[in-house]
Amino acid sequence: MIPAPKHEGAFLFMPAYVADLDTASIKIVNIFPKNIDKGMPSAPAQVLLVDGTNGLITAVLDGTYVTQLRTGAASGAAFDLLARKDAKKGALIGTGGQAAAQLEAMMVARRLEVVKVYDLNLERTKEFAARMQEELKAYGTRVEAAESSDEAIEDADLIVTVTPSSKPVFDGSKVKKGATLSCVGSYQHHMQEMDPVVLTRASKIYFDSEEAVLSEAGDILIPLEDGTITKADFTGDLGAVILGSVPGREDDDEIIVFKTVGIGTQDLVTAKCIYDKAIHRGIGTSWD
Ligand SMILES: NC(=O)c1ccc[n+]([C@@H]2O[C@H](COP(=O)([O-])OP(=O)(O)OC[C@H]3O[C@@H](n4cnc5c(N)ncnc54)[C@H](O)[C@@H]3O)[C@@H](O)[C@H]2O)c1
Repeated sequence: MIPAPKHEGAFLFMPAYVADLDTASIKIVNIFPKNIDKGMPSAPAQVLLVDGTNGLITAVLDGTYVTQLRTGAASGAAFDLLARKDAKKGALIGTGGQAAAQLEAMMVARRLEVVKVYDLNLERTKEFAARMQEELKAYGTRVEAAESSDEAIEDADLIVTVTPSSKPVFDGSKVKKGATLSCVGSYQHHMQEMDPVVLTRASKIYFDSEEAVLSEAGDILIPLEDGTITKADFTGDLGAVILGSVPGREDDDEIIVFKTVGIGTQDLVTAKCIYDKAIHRGIGTSWD
């Protein structure tokens, strides 16, 4: 992160290299809050994809869309690997830019009857629920607005929190046994959307990257510092579950927490997938 105080902005650069895919990438997300007054996006973002065999830049992709997809995919992978197979109810807290992909990820991972959605403004929440009900109708899941986070998480098997909140956005004592949570929002030390009570009730705590989470996420750092949890409570990274070196869910009553902050590798893999599909279908604009 390079701050640009002259314009109250910041440049964020997220590089990655995956030798197995012979691909490197960098995502650039620039945060310029005053852009909104000028009719410009406040967080313009692009991903540059690089051919790992020769260093040539092969593609420029919409970084906002890549972020939505890869952040949704992280939750989707966590639910796919860790949630009860018979999960029927979902809860989504936060209806902003990342929310649609999070909602779809829940529906892809499990056959849900209903997802209850909560945000601070009920009218906006109702609009979001109605729009999603239409856009995602192929999944056959009802999408309903909830008037409180208590109502949203009641009896929920899958829970996503995706807000920039600095105060817990749900009551951890009301999470039902067997639930799986993906907490997406907090990425700075003061941000805490997860109620630490749920960490004390959880049998297992996973991360997308423990190193990345411990360098930025208040959701884990605050309870770690005040002694609510210790590092001995951490189960491991989701990738280790995929590789079989760390166990996943072991019984249907376990509450499982997944904390994701997002890493450059997720952008790379997602961008490479899009690029390969685009090449295959002859879509895109060639610049040489
Ligand atoms: N983990 C990752 O990889 C990753 C990736 C992208 C974004 N994020 C983070 O996720 C968060 C959400 O991103 P976004 O782009 O959707 O943000 P956004 O600003 O578009 O939307 C956030 C939404 O959260 C709602 N909200 C805030 N406090 C709430 C509360 N207490 N209860 C219910 N709703 C509340 C807001 O009203 C808003 O609708 C941000 O903190 C962002 O930095 C994480």
